[in-house]
Amino acid sequence: MSGVAGAIEVAILGATGRMGQSVLRLFPEFPQLRLHAAVVSSESRSLGHDACELTGMTPTGIALTADLDRALRGAALAMDFSTAAAAPRHVPMCAEAGIPLLIGTTGLGPDMTAILTQASERIAVLVAANTSLGAAVLETLVRCAAVALGTGFDIHVQDPHHRNKKDAPSGTALALGRAATEARGGNGGVEYRSVRAGEVVGEHEVEFLGQGERLRLDHAVADRAVFARGALQAGLWLLGQNPGIYRMADIFNEK
Ligand SMILES: NC(=O)c1ccc[n+]([C@@H]2O[C@H](COP(=O)([O-])OP(=O)(O)OC[C@H]3O[C@@H](n4cnc5c(N)ncnc54)[C@H](OP(=O)(O)O)[C@@H]3O)[C@@H](O)[C@H]2O)c1
Repeated sequence: MSGVAGAIEVAILGATGRMGQSVLRLFPEFPQLRLHAAVVSSESRSLGHDACELTGMTPTGIALTADLDRALRGAALAMDFSTAAAAPRHVPMCAEAGIPLLIGTTGLGPDMTAILTQASERIAVLVAANTSLGAAVLETLVRCAAVALGTGFDIHVQDPHHRNKKDAPSGTALALGRAATEARGGNGGVEYRSVRAGEVVGEHEVEFLGQGERLRLDHAVADRAVFARGALQAGLWLLGQNPGIYRMADIFNEK
């Protein structure tokens, strides 16, 4: 997929998935980026096919591959929208290759903390369970509300999602709950409600329930392109960062 001369070469890991395809569709909005490689599992039914065949776009000339090592050669940025099982293997390979990595994959296990910490000594890693800019602002608002309202308020986080979503609560719901708990100094629990049904792309609602009052903060995404656009914007930002672990909210803190 062509970008301008000298464009930044991007490897997409999980290129045939709902998110991977959405990111591929968004490349024309970012002419400074060029698709360098499109990675799938070794069991993928799409191996060898053109990366954009599923999107119905003009062929890119980039074939879907399971050879991550080779896919990373010559890439300047990697974006992972694969699976919680595959991502732990991808992180050290990106670190070894010295390539900044945006991890959009969710449901990551506790073993990822050590893997990410080690990788972050060599590369910039953005861990983003939700790459929409609105969700990053929601997290900041949740921290603010949790500090102001204190432990006298109960916190409920709801995350309705489509029926194929694998993790529950969603990575975003957990990040919102964590933000609220941290903001209250680790005091007070958070209750989660995760409905998996229909084709809901992604909704998150945080309720603060106090005596006789309720504060509700919510964010809804109608189109997966929102996550894809935010991911490509965040990827561009990540290129300018030193090695370390970053979150979406860091993008705003720098502005
Ligand atoms: N950050 C965000 O804003 C955001 C938004 C939505 C979703 N997500 C998360 O992003 C992830 C992907 O979501 P999705 O809906 O796109 O899932 P999906 O449709 O199931 O796609 C998963 C992708 O991963 C690939 N894959 C599986 N095993 C792999 C391996 N070992 N190596 C490389 N690629 C592999 C699959 O390719 P083959 O099957 O062809 O091998 C497929 O392309 C999930 O964790 C989801 O929760 C994040």
